[in-house]
Amino acid sequence: MQYTFEPSSSVSTNKNDCIVVPVYTTKNKKPDLHGATKQLDESSNGAITEFTNTGDFKASLEQTQMLYKISGISSPRVLLVGCGEQKDFDIVALNKATKTASKILQASKVKSASLYLAESFIGANAEQAVTQIIIAHADSCYKLLDYKSEEKDETTLKKVTLAFTNAAKSDTASIKSGIKNGAAIADGMKLARDLANHPGNICTPAYLAEQAKSVAKEYTNIKLNVLEEKDMEKLGMGAFLSVSKGSDQPGKMIILEYQGANDKKQAPIALVGKGITFDTGGISLKPGANMDEMKFDMGGAAGMLGTLKACAEMKLPINLVVVLAAAENMPSGRASKPGDIVTSMAGKTIEVLNTDAEGRLVLCDALTYVGKFKPKVVIDTATLTGACIIALGHHICAVLSNDDELANEIISAGNSINDRAWQLPMGDDYKKQLKSSFADLGNIGGRAAGTITAACFLGEFTKDYKWAHIDIAGTAWTDKDATGRPVPLLSQYLINQANK
Ligand code: BES
Ligand code: MN
Ligand code: ZN
Repeated sequence: MQYTFEPSSSVSTNKNDCIVVPVYTTKNKKPDLHGATKQLDESSNGAITEFTNTGDFKASLEQTQMLYKISGISSPRVLLVGCGEQKDFDIVALNKATKTASKILQASKVKSASLYLAESFIGANAEQAVTQIIIAHADSCYKLLDYKSEEKDETTLKKVTLAFTNAAKSDTASIKSGIKNGAAIADGMKLARDLANHPGNICTPAYLAEQAKSVAKEYTNIKLNVLEEKDMEKLGMGAFLSVSKGSDQPGKMIILEYQGANDKKQAPIALVGKGITFDTGGISLKPGANMDEMKFDMGGAAGMLGTLKACAEMKLPINLVVVLAAAENMPSGRASKPGDIVTSMAGKTIEVLNTDAEGRLVLCDALTYVGKFKPKVVIDTATLTGACIIALGHHICAVLSNDDELANEIISAGNSINDRAWQLPMGDDYKKQLKSSFADLGNIGGRAAGTITAACFLGEFTKDYKWAHIDIAGTAWTDKDATGRPVPLLSQYLINQANK
């Protein structure tokens, strides 16, 4: 998709195949025309007012109406998009309005469209609004058709213009940067979604390593290193290996280093992702219903690779180290059994009381390993606990951290890009639930506060640095389709760090 912008665009002479304008409502549910929509109404001799006067169009959020061949208007199509009351039209509403419009454009034969949806954000939040439109549009265009033998992508839309009737010269820099960031983040999300949507028989740890390799090839400032099981044995990664040994697919620890800062030695931000390419539960086998969804259990790794791509695309002047802990969790004659005790790279012994709590086992060794890069902060993301879905549903990610400032930075980055997160507490009372009769730690903490005890387990391995954990069990996919989250949140966090 090609994205351009027009800061002071004339609605009447715009020759794109479709112009998309927002219509707001007043308190008493009357359409409220201004900006591009008002211009449209004036140039068409009141055609919009005439239409809205019918009462058929209330301009409530996500309501739409396509109008054709309006006199006085060059473009053959005008798509009216209901946006609700303007005072409530925030980034979240903008995302919804854009997705609705985008679906209609895709179902039409439109090749080029001008979107006048971000006008109300000029002055305050133009950059975020433009980014949001691009993310929302790309999101709604997404489809993985690799496994469909008949279905083809039939959308004709190739060019999207972010159009404004009211932007000044001084606004163009933020619009430009909003486009650049939006396109990069959308690309990163697409990569994350593709990886997560590919089935477990294709997306194996080796496949993830291949994909990481092609990302590294694309950018000269990314280096790749893959640790094989024999390397991990030498490093003493007994926790990771206790998971991967149950599978015929060899586990991989995939390490990518991005140098964006001028100073090579500047301490990197570390991103660690859970990459369980299929989670059967192991010997503590999961029930059959919906087990297919456990192909998404590498969503954390996919999100981190997607974020890396977005960061490289935006050329952020920071250093990053990305570690993807990739393994398959299978039951077999070589698999860990409940009660087995293993030794992690950090030297702590772990009693594997439930082989289905495997994410924390692969992550704890990745978190220890990443310490050698002396990172400024470490953020991990993982589809770690079913309990996270019970706590926050499918809307908001959980953040747990040993540093409240870091947690707040993550949460506010998420808020500004409509990829929300919410902090859950940690602490000794919860940590106690991980006691083991024989080893230093058990890998489960009982039913109560499952997301928190999982984070407390990881917290035992992250004492040397500032760390935050993002549980994306509820947000990495919905309705059996990956979402690309938390790529927007993390990308925004990195943008903010680069601007510091
Ligand atoms: N990958 C799962 C968590 C999960 C479950 C994510 C369902 C999304 C949907 C993880 O490996 C797991 O199985 N966790 C267990 C932990 C328990 C055994 C302490 C869980 O949440 O049930
Ligand atoms: Mn599991
Ligand atoms: Zn898992």
